[in-house]
This record gives sequence, C-alpha cells and structure tokens, in this order.
Amino acid sequence: MARAKVQFICQECGAVHPRWAGRCDSCGGWNTVAEEPVAEAAPIGGKGGKKTSKGRTIEFVSLDGQSAPAPRKKTGILEFDRVAGGGLVPGSAILIGGDPGIGKSTLLLQAVAGLANNARCVYISGEEAIDQVRLRATRLGVQKASVSLAAATHVGDIMATLDVDDPPDIVVIDSIQTMYVTAFDSAPGSVGQVRASAQELIRLAKRRNITVLFVGHVTKDGTIAGPRVLEHMVDTVMYFEGERGHHFRILRAVKNRFGPTDEIGVFEMTGTGLMEVKNPSALFLADRQGDVSGAVVFAGVEGSRPVLVEMQALVAPSPMGTPRRAVVGWDSGRLAMILAVLEARAGVSFSGKEVYLNVAGGMRVSEPAADLAAAAALMSAETGQALPRDMVVFGEIGLSGEVRAVSQMDARLKEASKLGFDRALTPRNRSKSKSGDVALTELSEIVELLQIFNADGKDASTVAALPPQNTRAAGV
Ligand code: TYD
Ligand code: MG
Repeated sequence: MARAKVQFICQECGAVHPRWAGRCDSCGGWNTVAEEPVAEAAPIGGKGGKKTSKGRTIEFVSLDGQSAPAPRKKTGILEFDRVAGGGLVPGSAILIGGDPGIGKSTLLLQAVAGLANNARCVYISGEEAIDQVRLRATRLGVQKASVSLAAATHVGDIMATLDVDDPPDIVVIDSIQTMYVTAFDSAPGSVGQVRASAQELIRLAKRRNITVLFVGHVTKDGTIAGPRVLEHMVDTVMYFEGERGHHFRILRAVKNRFGPTDEIGVFEMTGTGLMEVKNPSALFLADRQGDVSGAVVFAGVEGSRPVLVEMQALVAPSPMGTPRRAVVGWDSGRLAMILAVLEARAGVSFSGKEVYLNVAGGMRVSEPAADLAAAAALMSAETGQALPRDMVVFGEIGLSGEVRAVSQMDARLKEASKLGFDRALTPRNRSKSKSGDVALTELSEIVELLQIFNADGKDASTVAALPPQNTRAAGV
C-alpha cells in the first residue's frame, strides 16, 4: 500500500524540508516547521507516471503583437485607483496586506461599493458574519450598492458558485487566511492551506477573467502571514499601513505587474469610513509647532507624488555604556550611518548620548534623500538651534561626507513652494533645476552643516542668517 505522502513546510517562509527540524534552515525561525500532506501533482507523461507522450510543440510569436491594453475597472476612489495603476485589471489577482484592524475590510467594502455601478461585485467574508458586514456597510453609507454578499470559507463551495458561464467581475476574499480546501488536513491559515486556496482562486480568476482581491493578514515581523509564496503568485501586492494612534492610512503598491510600484494612496480613517486625502503634506504638517530645535521638514517623493513630512530628532545624555538609538518611521541602519558620517567627516560626536529619530504622523520614509534631513535634525537637536520655519531639506549623504543630488528636485521644490515654504537646504544643484520662488542653500559636503548651525564656533548669529555665499535667490 502506498504511504500517504507528507512534506515538512516552514509556516513562516514556506521552505520545504525533507524531514522535521526544530529550526528552519531557510529563515532561521524556531519551531516553525510543520507536517503537511503533499498536494496531488499532475502525473508526468500520462497515467501511471510512465513517460508515454512527448508533449506538444509550443508555438512562438513575435514581441510586437497587437494586444489591446486591458480595460481597467475604476473604483472611483482616486487614491486606490492610482495605487492599482489606474484601476483594476480583469483577470488579475491582488493581495492587500496589513495589520489586523488597520481597515482592510473597510477599504475593500468601499471599493466594491464604488465598482458596483459598472461591474458585478461579490464580497465573500470568512471572518465576519453577514450582519457585521451589513452593519459596516450602513455605517459607511453604501448599503444600497448592488454588491452580492456571502459568508463562506470553503474554497470548493466558492468555486462551485463562481466557476460558471456568467461569473461576476470582481470577487473579494476577506481573508485568505480563513479559506480552506479539503485536500489538506491542516488548519486554515497554515502555509499549505493558504497556498492551495489561493492557487485555486487565482486559477479561477485567470480562467473566468475575474478580478480577485485577497485580504492577507500580516505577522508581527511585517510579512504577510504564512506565505511569502503568496506574493509570488498574485499580480499585485499592496500594503495598507498606518500607526494605531493615528488616523492616517497609507496604501502602498510593492509589486504590480500592471502599473508602477511605490505609488502611495493616503486615507484618513473617520467615523464614516476612509476618506481620501488629496493633499497629504498639509495633513502630515498640520501639528507642526513653532521653531523647535530637532524638527526639520523633509521634502520627499513617494512614487509620483511629493510628500512633505517632519523629521524629529532628540539627543539626550545617556547614563548607560551603550547609549540607546531608536528610530520610528525610518531605517535604523541608515541612522547609524548618518551618525558615523557626522562623527568622521564633520567631527560631531554622539557617543555617550541617546539619539531618537521620529518621522511625525506615522509615515514611513524609505528614500535615501531623507539623509540630509535626518542629519540636519540631529545637528539641530544637538546644537539646540532650529532651522528657519519656512525651510525644507532633502539630499543623500555618502560615506565620504559628500551631499549627493537626488531625483525629482523640481517636484520637491514645487510642493514646498505650494505649501508656503520659501527656503530649501539642498545638494549642489548641478543640473540647475528650476527652484521657482524657493531660495536654495546648497551643500556639497556634510561638514558645511556646521556652518549653518554655527557649530564651527566662528559665527554667533542665529541660524536664520544663513551664509550668504551659499544662498542664491530664485533663478539666479
Ligand atoms: P477593519 O476594516 O475591520 O480592519 P481590518 O479588516 O484590516 O482588520 O477596520 C477596523 C477598524 O476601523 C476598527 O477599529 C474601527 C475602525 N473604523 C472606523 O474608525 N470607522 C469606520 O467607519 C469603520 C467601518 C471602521
Ligand atoms: Mg477585516
């Protein structure tokens, strides 16, 4: 009798092991390897596993075929449509990841309600009962939208319902971790179940030209629970992020086969659902204080849109041998680098001091262009001198202390000007980007920051009086 085949799969990273192990070799996780039955594979070369037929010849075509661009279905929520690359592509699979309670179900319910005008939409909830979803729809004011709602978790049932000649256009699966197929014994949410369920549903999407939107929960360490594998299977991966204490939510595309990545959509969670934020910079800067040392406005770019955020630094004496360094909203490795460059190239030492860096408003910054803003915030906190209130900062810092040019200078300066900023601390502008009515203070070396914060001991005036040889008025 043939033994039932089993395999051992890491529940964190999806790596397959030949036998059980206490630690996964691939991701290093402890106690994450679990036994799972092997899915029935398609027999190779016909029945009985014998290689009988040789397979069909594949036909090749040229690259310049006439494929019409896929028509996209718009939700009417501009922030969502832009992140999706201009709307939802029929037959594509989209994964929306995020922490529990961040608003994924709310976002998708609003999205299908918007789509319902020109597409047939189905919302399948595996987590909440019908009444709960209805209650939310009423709260969002979309209860009249013609969306078909069902509570189901068995993929077989869903396939039987949707794999028909007249399928719906859009299907939301909330969430993929609650779905299961009967081929596996393991519990819903395990890697095997999530992968098999997603595979079935994605196959359905391709075959019937349905857009499937999966909700996926994120684990503590920020990856979509269970499978990274899921990210490879779908066409588009979006993350819905935000800090618990804040109302802002950011939708970020990290993979998109049908559009650009790194686009963001900004929302605000209100009592009646998610509202689009047309001007995120104004929102992120809303709580700005007066001239405070350690606070600097960074002119960043997320995808195609400029976003201004405040970077705050605090430097305090530390009683401990290894002082603390903590970062919120930025990369801690990058902070260590900036501190080292400031010490080695500008002679500013932070040893024996605790250093905290925070991006205000719950935003996450990943651009290297934030280096100069971080350095300026640190210098400002260290010297106790504030930069002028109407000044934005951007620029990348290299290991030899040079300040490097960054992309999209024009867009950054234009956004700054729009929000009433008159001055900018920037890399030396070799390409002579237009600065509009923003006066630039250009740096080529990080050591020049000392002059700005009067830390070189030569000048005792305030920072507002910036070195004249560095300042140039607009268009000069
Ligand atoms: P939800 O969409 O259920 O999150 P997820 O599906 O990602 O787990 O959103 C849950 C939170 O959103 C909940 O804490 C309440 C809040 N919320 C509002 O503030 N306003 C609203 O209109 C709705 C529907 C939810
Ligand atoms: Mg939910």
